[in-house]
Amino acid sequence: MSALALDIVTGCVFGSGLVHDKEVHALMHRSIATAMSELEHRMFTLIGVLPIVKSLPLKSKLKIDEAKRDFMSAVKKIIDDRRHGLTQSVCKGLDLLDLLLSAESDGQKLTSEEIVQESATMVIAGHETTSTLMTWTLYVLAQHPKILLTLQKEIDSILRGQPPSADTLSQLIYTEAVLKESLRLYSPVPNITRMAVKDNTIVAQDGKEIFIRRGTDVFLDLYTLHHLEKYWPNADTFDPERFLNKNETHQSTIFLPFSAGTRNCIGQSFALMEAKIMLSMIVQEFEFELVPGQTFVPEMVVTMRPKDGIWVKMKSRQL
Ligand code: HEM
Repeated sequence: MSALALDIVTGCVFGSGLVHDKEVHALMHRSIATAMSELEHRMFTLIGVLPIVKSLPLKSKLKIDEAKRDFMSAVKKIIDDRRHGLTQSVCKGLDLLDLLLSAESDGQKLTSEEIVQESATMVIAGHETTSTLMTWTLYVLAQHPKILLTLQKEIDSILRGQPPSADTLSQLIYTEAVLKESLRLYSPVPNITRMAVKDNTIVAQDGKEIFIRRGTDVFLDLYTLHHLEKYWPNADTFDPERFLNKNETHQSTIFLPFSAGTRNCIGQSFALMEAKIMLSMIVQEFEFELVPGQTFVPEMVVTMRPKDGIWVKMKSRQL
């Protein structure tokens, strides 16, 4: 799932060349994986947070710096190749790299450095989040055969053996509910932080006032919000039905897998469409079951992933 999500996001951001260039592909994969695991380690041991300590040339920092250099040099090469017409968009229209190359800010074209930063952000933010969503979704579906059957029925009756199209995708209502319920139960981004830009007093439901001073870091626990019995009866049960015919306005305040407000997920629609395409094609083609004897431990790092991965046996469906 990780390699697939990386292929998709790099394909959409940088065009087809990268997907077929195994060397660049492997380098990107390796550098992102190294940087993420070292960053997470530094965050949870506080090494990456404490002033002074975070700048020390410790092994983890050197590894991150090297991964960053590798990643950035690969991206720079991709940008140069596009500038020289050596690659092109895989989309019907322009891809993100084309848009960034033609974009202007205050009448000025973006610099190469800015383009590298913007495209790298997209790849990093859009890679592990989506692969985590897909991994948990396959896991939870493998444990709920009845729900999987309902999903297969929807997908088979709407796609009729064809790959999904814009038209058929919009009809996959139950598929979308399955993905949303998976996002609720196993939110890939389980928490976010914000800094209070001004003094604020929040009044809790019991009338208790909480004063938040300007400059305070506020930790928002999306995982808990998505598991509160008050809003989600039988909160620990996987039940996609709760996302069918429900009050969208109500959900927009209690269902926040992509956060909310002006800095919410810019890739939200992309991610849902991507996951819908992946899930419908997988379910259409394969039967899958969990390899026995595994233990599943959600681990909250930057994303909430299964600690030791999830092993799934897949075989072609006999239709
Ligand atoms: C299931 C998949 C995804 C989930 C659950 C997810 C979740 C989130 C969340 C919660 C945030 C806000 C983080 C914060 O406020 O601190 C965020 C930000 C962001 N996401 Fe996603 N995301 C997903 C997929 C994607 C994809 C596919 C892309 C790009 C193609 C993307 C690009 C971004 C970017 C650029 C930001 C930063 C926006 C900003 O700071 O203004 N995400 N995402």
